[in-house]
Amino acid sequence: MAEIKTLAVVGSGQMGSGIAQLGAMYGLDVWLVDTDSDALLRATNSISSSIQRFVSKSHLSQAAGSDALRRIKCTANLEDLHSADVIIEAIVESENVKKKLFSELDKIAKASAILASNTSSISITRLASATSRPRQVIGMHFMNPPPIMKLVEIVRGADTSEETFSATKALAERFGKIVICSQDYSGFIVNRILMPMINEAFFTLYTGVATKEDIDTGMKLGTNHPMGPLELADFIGLDVCLSIMRVLHVGLGDNKYAPCPLLVQYVDAGRLGRKRGIGVYDYRKVSEPVKPSPRL
Ligand SMILES: NC(=O)c1ccc[n+]([C@@H]2O[C@H](COP(=O)([O-])OP(=O)(O)OC[C@H]3O[C@@H](n4cnc5c(N)ncnc54)[C@H](O)[C@@H]3O)[C@@H](O)[C@H]2O)c1
Repeated sequence: MAEIKTLAVVGSGQMGSGIAQLGAMYGLDVWLVDTDSDALLRATNSISSSIQRFVSKSHLSQAAGSDALRRIKCTANLEDLHSADVIIEAIVESENVKKKLFSELDKIAKASAILASNTSSISITRLASATSRPRQVIGMHFMNPPPIMKLVEIVRGADTSEETFSATKALAERFGKIVICSQDYSGFIVNRILMPMINEAFFTLYTGVATKEDIDTGMKLGTNHPMGPLELADFIGLDVCLSIMRVLHVGLGDNKYAPCPLLVQYVDAGRLGRKRGIGVYDYRKVSEPVKPSPRL
């Protein structure tokens, strides 16, 4: 495949903004697309602060940081992606919405372009079936947050070509990532293992076995996880966790993957985790300054 010069990222939420940042930091011209203009504004601010942190820790020079910011162009118009060499989709975790997008991208993107999905669990083969180029469709699953986390899980659909796989692997390695490769079965490697653990943590809370704090402390100190499973669920987004559990449940056909009713209820209530200020934990609380007790 020809050299990759232009990257497009569709969806400018927590994952899309981080992937766009990586592309720009590693010298690519980047289009960042979202249907929500507020999301694009939030993404620009978060990319700018993240790059500033890299600069302040001397991981990036000020000039390289400014250059990276200049390389990112935001748009709401998919037509702008006609010149992109690789398009990475990072929109909502819904098969129907993603398929519709892949079908639109297939019509807009140049013939040689690779269409990648950052999906956490949805079948790459089925996303590819919405396009006329299944050989050029692949899963490129970054971890959260993309500029920091070392892993990229690459998922080959039933028809993904060797050339597409090699180009995608080379791109991930250019971003300084370690690549693992999964066959296209629900949840791939990481979420096949992680999400049932998170779901079980919700069942542990739901059935009153322990408090959320004790569940998280148990897993942090007892098994050396850097974050407890409930804390991690809030970080990922409870809506994302629920979507993945539903994909595992339907895709693998086993009731052991049925989402915990408490996880479903939190999502119904809009408690989506850190991004909404409340999930399992409440992040909105401003700690009250301790007032000195009056001396009478
Ligand atoms: N959150 C995580 O930890 C994590 C980790 C790895 C992969 N993922 C996957 O990445 C994807 C995005 O997750 P996220 O956490 O960034 O979600 P998010 O909710 O933070 O962002 C999604 C963005 O997509 C935009 N969007 C929705 N439909 C669109 C469309 N048709 N066209 C353009 N933009 C559209 C929304 O406006 C929103 O800004 C999902 O597939 C998710 O499973 C998430």
